Amino acid sequence: MRKVVILGTGGTIAGTGSDPARSWHYVAAQRDVGELLAAVPELAAEALEWMQVAQIDSKDMRWAVWQALAAALDQALARTDVAGVVVTHGTDTLEETAWLLQALHDGRKPVVLTAAMRPATAPDADGPANLRDAVRVARAAAEDGLGGVVAVLGGRVWPGAAVRKVHTLAVDAFNGGEVAPLADLRENGMPCGAEGWSRPWPPCDGMGWSRMSVAEPPRVEVITSHADADGWVVDALCAHGTPQSPLRGLIVAGTGHGTVHEALEAALRRAEAQGVAVWRSTRVAKGGVMAREGDRWPACGPLTPAQARVALVLALLQKQRPAE
Ligand code: SIN
Repeated sequence: MRKVVILGTGGTIAGTGSDPARSWHYVAAQRDVGELLAAVPELAAEALEWMQVAQIDSKDMRWAVWQALAAALDQALARTDVAGVVVTHGTDTLEETAWLLQALHDGRKPVVLTAAMRPATAPDADGPANLRDAVRVARAAAEDGLGGVVAVLGGRVWPGAAVRKVHTLAVDAFNGGEVAPLADLRENGMPCGAEGWSRPWPPCDGMGWSRMSVAEPPRVEVITSHADADGWVVDALCAHGTPQSPLRGLIVAGTGHGTVHEALEAALRRAEAQGVAVWRSTRVAKGGVMAREGDRWPACGPLTPAQARVALVLALLQKQRPAE
């Protein structure tokens, strides 16, 4: 039987607290992924291998951790004895990592992210069931010849490019924006065969893991349009840049359908004149920002501002790449 490789990065799924009655008092990223697997008896007979890539609270996610994760994925997915990979992650930046991995993944094997809202020591911890489901999804997808990146959370399977955190506390904290899940394991069990999923699996046409090889990503920041947004922050960001780390891009989390306060817009035009790329997303939870004729700045479609930031980093990396 081919193996499923589990890559641990930390998060609440690996968190511990000293008082099970107050499970919200805990520290994330304390248990290694081997310990997490030991808490899932249903996986005892599975052919698994695990590796701890990082041990962080995902609020502290950074380029170097993404690089280590990309390298581990590249290695594991290239092995003929590996069917697919599961990544355990914190919930807070899972949508950024999932989007990034989907943009990079270019092979025909499944990559499944999972996480938990309650620490491993909570009496009603959601991590063990999520990890079990994630391994089973990786196995089922591999058997059906499906690749791409998905997230398995609370019994539902979300496309990696669409998944996002929509609740700060609820156990069922994720959705796919306007996109329906690929499967609801709670209601329907594991889909049977490639046709059994309610939507097609994500494509496997990413840019390749080597895109992460640059030491420093281009600097892209997220700013918000709001009442009294007078552009001060944009001017400050442009003035602060150093030759080693100049501001290269800005994602504006605009109001409504990506609209921007007129004073902020004036500052963005000044930034643009200095070579800063500007993309528009929205601070509104649903609907996204669609392109319209005459738009001054590209619209980020359904991406959250945090996902849009990753997309702009990759687009800028692509531009600075020597012609192949
Ligand atoms: C984290 O994102 O690492 C902490 C919060 C969580 O996993 O729910």
